[in-house]
Amino acid sequence: MKVPLLDLHTQYKPILNDIKDEMEKVFITHAYKLGPQVKEFEEKIQQYCKIKHAIGCASGTDALILALIALDIGDGDEVITIPFTFFATAGTIHRVGARPTFVDVKSDTFNIDPDKIEKAITPRTKAIIVVHLFGQPAEMDIIINIAQKYNLKVIEDNAQGIGAEYDGKVAGTFGDIGTLSFFPSKNLGAMGDGGMCLTDNDELSAKLFQLRVHGENPQYYHKWVGLNSRLDTIQAAVLLVKLRSLENWSEARRRNAEYYYKNINDIPQIKLPVIHKKAKTIFNQFTLVVERRDELLKYLHSRDIGCAVYYPRPLHLQECFSYLNYKEGDFPVAEELTNKVISIPVFSEITREQQDYVIKTIKEFYI
Ligand SMILES: Cc1ncc(COP(=O)(O)O)c(C=O)c1O
Repeated sequence: MKVPLLDLHTQYKPILNDIKDEMEKVFITHAYKLGPQVKEFEEKIQQYCKIKHAIGCASGTDALILALIALDIGDGDEVITIPFTFFATAGTIHRVGARPTFVDVKSDTFNIDPDKIEKAITPRTKAIIVVHLFGQPAEMDIIINIAQKYNLKVIEDNAQGIGAEYDGKVAGTFGDIGTLSFFPSKNLGAMGDGGMCLTDNDELSAKLFQLRVHGENPQYYHKWVGLNSRLDTIQAAVLLVKLRSLENWSEARRRNAEYYYKNINDIPQIKLPVIHKKAKTIFNQFTLVVERRDELLKYLHSRDIGCAVYYPRPLHLQECFSYLNYKEGDFPVAEELTNKVISIPVFSEITREQQDYVIKTIKEFYI
């Protein structure tokens, strides 16, 4: 049996004709640049995320850059984030000229440890980029309180958590700006790249709409220096179709996760992901903390089971950030996780037989 980490073929099959129809509309009108599908998709995401404004852009990375620029973050500013996340979260802070300041994560939820944030705040700290890692929202009530106390902006990097909730409120809608990624492996993935900023703030929204087209308004007049970062109409057409299934797909992921919780609970070398009592996750990844991780990874691959390490190297130890002068041991939880995590298939279309094979193979390895 073969079990991929993600099976986009199975996902696309039942919706491929709808996608072709939506795409054809774009080909007929040639409205490739910010065509009507982009606006329609932005409106649909506003409703889905219960937010006032949604601004499409070219990727989740650009969404973070646009958010940072919109909040006037740049030279001399410090931005707090976590070292255990995808590179873009910290790379974008550097890219706008600010300095990433890392705060360790919690060993159970993998999200930022709110108890460690205040110690990292200095007079230069301007914002926190909170990451909702693997689809589970961070503890936003505590984080927003800290941000308010120190007058910090909050950006939520919700690339992995579209539709997730914390205390009944949608992830990405707590802070000043939330960002989304439509990278193909996300719960809502495009057929290429795409991203989005979310905000309830009218002024920030207007600025973000301008920033994605070089800060231009009216044409050839520039109040700010922005980017060329539009959401392609073709991608918006794909995403409009896929959005109709998103809730079902995320629900299926939760059911699949539940099956793992029931059936991998008796192996002492494995810790299952912990979901905070106020959080509703969308399980973009199902990530175990295990002993002998690298051996397990090889063993599963040798038995045709897709699995991956997100992430094998913490960001504070990346070569490009050596100028920040962090060293090994600075963020022990993140460092340990990079040596012990492994993500196993939880995609919506996985069958029970495939899950049974994953479970059996993992048990075989440890027993
Ligand atoms: C946590 C996180 N932040 C940012 C990004 C960047 O998104 P994109 O790949 O769309 O640029 C990703 C996705 O890959 C991500 O997982």
